[in-house]
Amino acid sequence: MSESEIKIFDTTLRDGEQSPGVSLNIEEKLEIAHQLANLDVDVIEAGFPIASEGDFEAVKQIAKEVQGPVIAGLARTTKGDIDRAWEALKYSDKPRIHTFIATSPVHMEYKLQKSPNEVLESVTEAVEYAKSYTDDVEFSAEDAFRSDKDFLCQVVEKAVAAGATTVNIPDTVGYATPAEFGGLIEYICNNVPNIEETIISVHCHNDLGLAVANSLAAIEKGAQQIECAVNGIGERAGNTALEEVVMALNTRCDYFDQTPEVTLDQIYKTSKLVSSLTGMSVQANKAIVGKNAFAHESGIHQDGVIKERTTYEIMDAKTIGLSENQIVLGKHSGRHAFKERLAELGYELEGDNLEKAFKRFKELADRKKSITDRDLEALVEDELKTI
Ligand code: KIV
Ligand code: ZN
Repeated sequence: MSESEIKIFDTTLRDGEQSPGVSLNIEEKLEIAHQLANLDVDVIEAGFPIASEGDFEAVKQIAKEVQGPVIAGLARTTKGDIDRAWEALKYSDKPRIHTFIATSPVHMEYKLQKSPNEVLESVTEAVEYAKSYTDDVEFSAEDAFRSDKDFLCQVVEKAVAAGATTVNIPDTVGYATPAEFGGLIEYICNNVPNIEETIISVHCHNDLGLAVANSLAAIEKGAQQIECAVNGIGERAGNTALEEVVMALNTRCDYFDQTPEVTLDQIYKTSKLVSSLTGMSVQANKAIVGKNAFAHESGIHQDGVIKERTTYEIMDAKTIGLSENQIVLGKHSGRHAFKERLAELGYELEGDNLEKAFKRFKELADRKKSITDRDLEALVEDELKTI
């Protein structure tokens, strides 16, 4: 497999919008979809057209306007869902119908009230029906991780035989651990006949905080598409975070031999846009896009980063579209960081003057948690008057 073969399937507008309390209007969805195209994701799952008039219109507008990525729409395995998805998707030059049915015992018995054989029949019927509209058909086995492994392989085999070009293996309730999830992907690759030509996708939820780790474990065992959402939003604890999985694959390209072809310097902007339009704030210590992800507070760390960035940074903030790392001045900061920040603000203090200003800064930092550029300017101006 070549380096570019990991596909990024973004579901911010479908599973991400299923986050409790989040509802985006059509204009907002379009804005996010255009930004996802700037980010160069491979697939945008634009919504679930049968779910509401608003979802239908949004998928239709995105299919009409957004160029570059494949545009996918979700559908259960019923003809009505698939017809509705196609009505919205047909305007795209790269449409994908994404059809799904649950395959775990608990979902089949209580939710679907279908026998395993009935589920197998639905898979074939739905994939064949979707294929009558478009060549690009994805099938998902909902709650795959809690399904019987051999039954899951039969389901995947049916989907492949019916013409699915991508088969998605979700950990719908975020129950898997990385070794187990990787093992399941390996099992499917080794036990489903004629799977080689089909893209294996994974869709991990984050209920135990393992969505990114599980997705990466799946990649190691043969998966080629990761389904994820910006800022990790989605049902309950959310989905695999796009920015985390993409940066893990890029930063550790020495370990993973495949990387997605995403435009990395659009990551931060996309995260900001999704956060402001959904109203879901990003926690300060969130990996990659959190306010503190490239900030250094302690004096030892600041001193190290000033001398050589890679002492305490494994990624360059510029890669994701930030201008620079942030040296946060506080009570743990050292003379070196203090002097550098003053220089950036246009003050060149040396010797005694520097010592006096630094002493005053430490006194202030004891009283105030973080020191702003304004505080520094006031402090130095005051100090300069005494010279
Ligand atoms: O979590 C899940 O199983 C899903 C499917 C519809 C892909 O979101
Ligand atoms: Zn999901």
